Amino acid sequence: MIHQNRINKLLSQLDDNALIIISTNPEQFRNGDVSFPFRPHSDFFYLTNFQEPEAVVVISNHQCSMFLRDKDPAREIWDGARLGVADAPDTLKLDQAFDINQLETQLTHLIANDSVIYFDAKPCELDAKISTLLSDYNVNSLQAPLHEMRLIKDQSEIDTMQRAADISISAHEQAMKSVSPGMFEYELQSVFDAGFVKNRAQHAYTPIVAGGKNACILHYIDNNQPLRDGDLVLIDAGCELNCYASDITRTFPVNGKFTKAQKAIYQVVLDAQLAAIECIKPGVSVHQPHKIATQIIQQGLESLGLLSPGEPLTKFYMHGTGHWLGMDVHDVGQYQHNKQHRAFEKGMIITVEPGIYIRKDDKINSIYHDIGIRIEDDVLVTDTSHQVLTGNLVKTINEIETLMS
Ligand code: GLY
Ligand code: MN
Ligand code: MN
Repeated sequence: MIHQNRINKLLSQLDDNALIIISTNPEQFRNGDVSFPFRPHSDFFYLTNFQEPEAVVVISNHQCSMFLRDKDPAREIWDGARLGVADAPDTLKLDQAFDINQLETQLTHLIANDSVIYFDAKPCELDAKISTLLSDYNVNSLQAPLHEMRLIKDQSEIDTMQRAADISISAHEQAMKSVSPGMFEYELQSVFDAGFVKNRAQHAYTPIVAGGKNACILHYIDNNQPLRDGDLVLIDAGCELNCYASDITRTFPVNGKFTKAQKAIYQVVLDAQLAAIECIKPGVSVHQPHKIATQIIQQGLESLGLLSPGEPLTKFYMHGTGHWLGMDVHDVGQYQHNKQHRAFEKGMIITVEPGIYIRKDDKINSIYHDIGIRIEDDVLVTDTSHQVLTGNLVKTINEIETLMS
């Protein structure tokens, strides 16, 4: 069933004659006849709750129409059941439905003389076709109002994201309990693969399972090296459940015990992360967590003699402290208004993920070489404060060593 309340809220922010056109994602082929599992487009799914490929929704104040694949018994033997045009209006609560093959002939009939059209073309064949059909019209972007709505999560979205977080928490705990020296990174990844699939979830993004120096490669996804005694392993893995993401990073010792040097760096990252989370509440600048995290990491690395006063921190910490989280792991929504950092509002969900990455360098004491640590949690802004959706996952040095012992 379509989300009529979301559609109404969106329409209420647009011209009375607004006509919204949104298509879902195309099916993507991996090679030959093999396709990737289908994932609807987030904007489309947010409004329609419809999971089939090859669909376009057309929304005005008067009616909601959908173009979709019609029933096709021969194709359904191969690809599974389709809702079909005849059942779509009742099942989805639409005013009317059309065969997607009639898009060319029918779409322009839904456009009135005074329609104000909203359409954002994605780079895909279907949207290229729609763009051609709209070539004689003025077309506006829907992104600002729609993505602002997606940025503020309602209770059902928060509940789904909490379930996604819980599934990811269990897998991270299982990984900490399963790891041992000599295991390969991909074997540890398989804990997440299994943990997600058995909960009808999937990876929200390609997981990072990075032992030792691999943790200093920010987007390491090879996950094919052995895990060594004495090294840390950084795991950035989170599941997507019903099109909502979780995003968690934990870093822990392969043999269950942090070395003194690993402890020192870990504690700096943890202090930064806890302080950054602590500042989150409505009214506070969304830049504040990064400001706090960088200050604490700068001071921490200076007291360990790894940075001289004033030396740029970007040598060891070169990414932001967080991003919006929702249907997309790097979710939609502006971080600034009029070039100024905006303030947190109730219902936003942001990650907090500071890190320190120390590559081998003759100028650095070798006990710190190849240490890469990131700690990442998912934080909901509440009425007056915040709630850490991933707060049930162990995080302090003691908690991790105890769980692993
Ligand atoms: N896992 C993606 C990120 O942390 O941004
Ligand atoms: Mn993240
Ligand atoms: Mn992450």
